[in-house]
Amino acid sequence: MTSEWYSASAPGKFVILGEHSVVYGKPAIVLAADRRISCSVRRSDCNTINGLPLDIEKQPHLRYLTRNTEYPLDVITTSDVPSGSGMGSSAALSAAMALAIQLEKGCTKTEKDFVDEAYGAEFFAQGGGSPMDASACVHGGGIAVNIPDDGCRELWSITRGDRTWRITDIPVPDMSFVIGNTGIRAPTGPQVDKVRRFSKKTTFAREIIDEIGDITIEGYHALKRGDKDILGRIMTRDHKLLSILGVSCKELNKLVNAALPYSYGAKLTGSGGGGCMVALTDNPEKVADAISSRGGTPYIIKSGSEGVRIENEPASGNALDIPMR
Ligand code: MEV
Repeated sequence: MTSEWYSASAPGKFVILGEHSVVYGKPAIVLAADRRISCSVRRSDCNTINGLPLDIEKQPHLRYLTRNTEYPLDVITTSDVPSGSGMGSSAALSAAMALAIQLEKGCTKTEKDFVDEAYGAEFFAQGGGSPMDASACVHGGGIAVNIPDDGCRELWSITRGDRTWRITDIPVPDMSFVIGNTGIRAPTGPQVDKVRRFSKKTTFAREIIDEIGDITIEGYHALKRGDKDILGRIMTRDHKLLSILGVSCKELNKLVNAALPYSYGAKLTGSGGGGCMVALTDNPEKVADAISSRGGTPYIIKSGSEGVRIENEPASGNALDIPMR
């Protein structure tokens, strides 16, 4: 069977402040990055991914996203977002695939419907987490989570169990960020689980989570004022708190320390345990060199990219290495 391809793409993201504590309903600030994942789908006789047979039971995101599709699909996914790196590859894949599937079915959905689909896929695959990554990859630009009402436009609100996440649209700051990839793949689920176990065991861990929430609000106001000194200091403090929670590692610390002499601040970004760090700087080239010289891969990021969007051409480029179970 040869049918038509339907294609979409979504940006990766990086967290400026608030990862992990956002899982407990605390605030967070996230920007979309100028690196995207593309996904094309077409009706087929059997499920395939990037030209190879796909056992859909083994890929939880795709299994969730195709749960209401009664026929097999050929899927192509390509990516500039390193996977398992804290840059939102699974949320971007889920967002792009949700849109491509909708196009194939010919029905219209809202941004919020795509967030529900992408967050549903993430939750199904990880067994926990917040709708922060899904919201950032669907909406693009900049978003804040659970910042006490400051007049920013509310995009949507999502409740799961006893937690609610209120997502607002924030202006993309005119600031330079450099991401450093350790090259160590660290899936989100086990990191979220680690913090959950720690927070169940000790009030100390819960106090750290509260403190991350408090400094994220301070950081948000610094971001709004354009105060890079304060925001940078808060980012570095956040890295220390995340390290106490046990989600940093020596490779991340090495890249954070390499970036700090040329930065306002630096921290791990995403779920940690490997993956990426981010630095706020006026010297992106110097920070990039410092990251390279310590064995990391730097990306000088343009933040605030467009969210999930339709693509006219089928996905092409580097095949995304998607996680199988
Ligand atoms: C991962 O990008 C962010 C975490 O806070 C998990 C989540 O919010 O789902 C670690």
